[in-house]
Amino acid sequence: MTELTLSIIKPDAVAAGHAGEILTTLEQAGFRIRALRMLHLTKAQAEGFYAVHREKPFFPGLVEFMTEGPVIVMALEREDAIARLREIMGATNPANAAEGTIRRRFGTAITRNSIHGSDAPETARFELGYFFSALDLV
Ligand code: RTP
Ligand code: MG
Repeated sequence: MTELTLSIIKPDAVAAGHAGEILTTLEQAGFRIRALRMLHLTKAQAEGFYAVHREKPFFPGLVEFMTEGPVIVMALEREDAIARLREIMGATNPANAAEGTIRRRFGTAITRNSIHGSDAPETARFELGYFFSALDLV
Protein backbone atom coordinates (compact mmCIF):
# COMPACT_ATOMS: atom_id res chain seq x y z
CA MET A 1 0.00 0.00 0.00
CA THR A 2 1.29 3.44 -0.86
CA GLU A 3 0.85 6.36 1.48
CA LEU A 4 1.06 10.14 1.24
CA THR A 5 3.42 12.44 3.06
CA LEU A 6 3.89 16.19 3.11
CA SER A 7 7.23 17.71 2.24
CA ILE A 8 8.47 21.29 2.10
CA ILE A 9 11.55 22.54 0.28
CA LYS A 10 12.50 25.19 2.83
CA PRO A 11 13.41 28.85 2.08
CA ASP A 12 17.18 28.23 2.29
CA ALA A 13 17.14 25.55 -0.41
CA VAL A 14 14.76 27.45 -2.69
CA ALA A 15 16.88 30.63 -2.40
CA ALA A 16 20.09 28.70 -3.08
CA GLY A 17 18.65 27.22 -6.27
CA HIS A 18 18.50 23.64 -5.02
CA ALA A 19 14.79 23.03 -5.59
CA GLY A 20 15.39 21.23 -8.89
CA GLU A 21 18.02 18.88 -7.49
CA ILE A 22 15.83 18.09 -4.48
CA LEU A 23 12.83 17.33 -6.72
CA THR A 24 15.04 15.09 -8.87
CA THR A 25 16.28 13.28 -5.76
CA LEU A 26 12.71 12.72 -4.57
CA GLU A 27 11.57 11.42 -7.97
CA GLN A 28 14.60 9.13 -8.28
CA ALA A 29 13.79 7.75 -4.82
CA GLY A 30 10.41 6.65 -6.14
CA PHE A 31 8.17 9.43 -4.86
CA ARG A 32 5.34 10.53 -7.09
CA ILE A 33 4.42 14.21 -6.85
CA ARG A 34 0.63 14.30 -6.34
CA ALA A 35 0.40 18.05 -5.62
CA LEU A 36 2.90 20.91 -5.57
CA ARG A 37 2.63 24.58 -4.71
CA MET A 38 5.06 27.45 -4.24
CA LEU A 39 4.16 30.01 -1.62
CA HIS A 40 5.64 32.54 0.75
CA LEU A 41 4.32 31.63 4.19
CA THR A 42 2.96 34.34 6.46
CA LYS A 43 3.95 34.35 10.14
CA ALA A 44 0.51 33.02 11.11
CA GLN A 45 0.70 30.24 8.51
CA ALA A 46 4.18 29.13 9.68
CA GLU A 47 3.08 29.27 13.34
CA GLY A 48 0.04 27.13 12.53
CA PHE A 49 2.06 24.59 10.60
CA TYR A 50 4.65 24.15 13.38
CA ALA A 51 2.11 24.61 16.23
CA VAL A 52 3.33 21.37 17.83
CA HIS A 53 6.62 23.19 18.57
CA ARG A 54 5.11 26.46 19.88
CA GLU A 55 6.50 26.03 23.42
CA LYS A 56 10.04 25.17 22.23
CA PRO A 57 12.84 27.69 22.61
CA PHE A 58 13.65 27.42 18.90
CA PHE A 59 10.06 28.23 17.80
CA PRO A 60 10.44 31.99 17.09
CA GLY A 61 13.59 31.38 15.05
CA LEU A 62 11.92 28.54 13.17
CA VAL A 63 8.96 30.75 12.21
CA GLU A 64 11.30 33.58 11.21
CA PHE A 65 13.26 31.20 8.96
CA MET A 66 10.23 29.57 7.37
CA THR A 67 8.85 32.99 6.41
CA GLU A 68 12.08 34.49 5.04
CA GLY A 69 11.36 33.48 1.46
CA PRO A 70 9.25 31.23 -0.76
CA VAL A 71 8.87 27.51 -0.09
CA ILE A 72 7.68 24.61 -2.23
CA VAL A 73 5.12 22.34 -0.57
CA MET A 74 4.41 18.90 -1.99
CA ALA A 75 2.16 15.92 -1.43
CA LEU A 76 4.35 12.87 -2.14
CA GLU A 77 3.16 9.31 -2.68
CA ARG A 78 5.19 6.11 -2.32
CA GLU A 79 5.24 2.80 -0.53
CA ASP A 80 6.10 3.63 3.09
CA ALA A 81 6.37 7.30 2.09
CA ILE A 82 6.59 8.82 5.57
CA ALA A 83 9.50 6.68 6.78
CA ARG A 84 11.30 6.64 3.42
CA LEU A 85 11.19 10.43 3.12
CA ARG A 86 12.61 10.84 6.62
CA GLU A 87 15.40 8.42 5.63
CA ILE A 88 16.47 10.28 2.51
CA MET A 89 16.14 13.66 4.29
CA GLY A 90 18.64 12.63 6.95
CA ALA A 91 18.97 13.81 10.56
CA THR A 92 17.54 17.17 11.66
CA ASN A 93 21.07 18.53 12.10
CA PRO A 94 22.84 18.33 8.72
CA ALA A 95 26.13 17.78 10.56
CA ASN A 96 24.72 14.47 11.85
CA ALA A 97 22.95 13.49 8.63
CA ALA A 98 24.25 10.47 6.71
CA GLU A 99 26.35 10.98 3.59
CA GLY A 100 24.18 11.48 0.50
CA THR A 101 21.03 12.53 2.36
CA ILE A 102 19.26 15.73 1.32
CA ARG A 103 20.07 17.55 4.55
CA ARG A 104 23.73 16.52 4.35
CA ARG A 105 23.90 17.78 0.77
CA PHE A 106 21.92 20.99 1.08
CA GLY A 107 21.44 21.86 4.77
CA THR A 108 23.85 24.30 6.38
CA ALA A 109 22.71 24.29 10.05
CA ILE A 110 20.12 22.61 12.28
CA THR A 111 18.02 25.75 11.81
CA ARG A 112 18.55 25.81 8.02
CA ASN A 113 18.17 22.19 6.96
CA SER A 114 16.64 22.49 3.47
CA ILE A 115 13.65 20.15 3.71
CA HIS A 116 10.71 19.16 5.88
CA GLY A 117 8.96 15.79 6.01
CA SER A 118 5.98 14.61 8.05
CA ASP A 119 7.12 12.40 10.94
CA ALA A 120 4.06 10.13 11.51
CA PRO A 121 0.70 9.22 9.91
CA GLU A 122 -1.31 11.64 12.12
CA THR A 123 1.17 14.43 11.39
CA ALA A 124 1.03 13.70 7.66
CA ARG A 125 -2.79 13.87 7.70
CA PHE A 126 -2.73 17.24 9.47
CA GLU A 127 0.06 18.66 7.28
CA LEU A 128 -1.41 17.47 3.95
CA GLY A 129 -4.76 19.01 4.92
CA TYR A 130 -3.02 22.22 5.97
CA PHE A 131 -1.90 22.89 2.39
CA PHE A 132 -4.01 20.72 0.09
CA SER A 133 -7.56 19.58 -0.38
CA ALA A 134 -8.54 16.24 -1.93
CA LEU A 135 -9.25 18.05 -5.20
CA ASP A 136 -5.61 19.24 -5.41
CA LEU A 137 -4.29 15.67 -5.60
CA VAL A 138 -3.69 14.63 -9.20
P1 RTP B 1 11.01 19.20 10.21
O1 RTP B 1 9.79 19.11 11.10
O2 RTP B 1 11.27 20.59 9.72
O3 RTP B 1 10.94 18.19 9.10
O4 RTP B 1 12.32 18.79 11.06
P2 RTP B 1 12.48 17.57 12.06
O5 RTP B 1 11.21 16.78 12.14
O6 RTP B 1 13.71 16.85 11.66
O7 RTP B 1 12.76 18.30 13.43
P3 RTP B 1 11.69 18.87 14.49
O8 RTP B 1 12.06 18.34 15.83
O9 RTP B 1 10.29 18.66 14.01
O10 RTP B 1 12.03 20.42 14.50
C1 RTP B 1 11.49 21.28 13.52
C2 RTP B 1 12.59 22.21 13.04
O11 RTP B 1 12.98 23.04 14.12
C3 RTP B 1 14.36 23.30 14.03
N1 RTP B 1 15.03 22.93 15.26
N2 RTP B 1 15.94 23.66 15.82
N3 RTP B 1 17.87 24.69 17.57
C4 RTP B 1 17.37 23.49 17.81
O12 RTP B 1 17.73 22.80 18.73
C5 RTP B 1 16.35 23.00 16.90
N4 RTP B 1 15.70 21.86 17.03
C6 RTP B 1 14.85 21.81 15.96
C7 RTP B 1 14.95 22.50 12.90
O13 RTP B 1 15.18 23.37 11.81
C8 RTP B 1 13.87 21.49 12.59
O14 RTP B 1 13.87 21.14 11.22
MG1 MG C 1 9.34 17.65 12.48
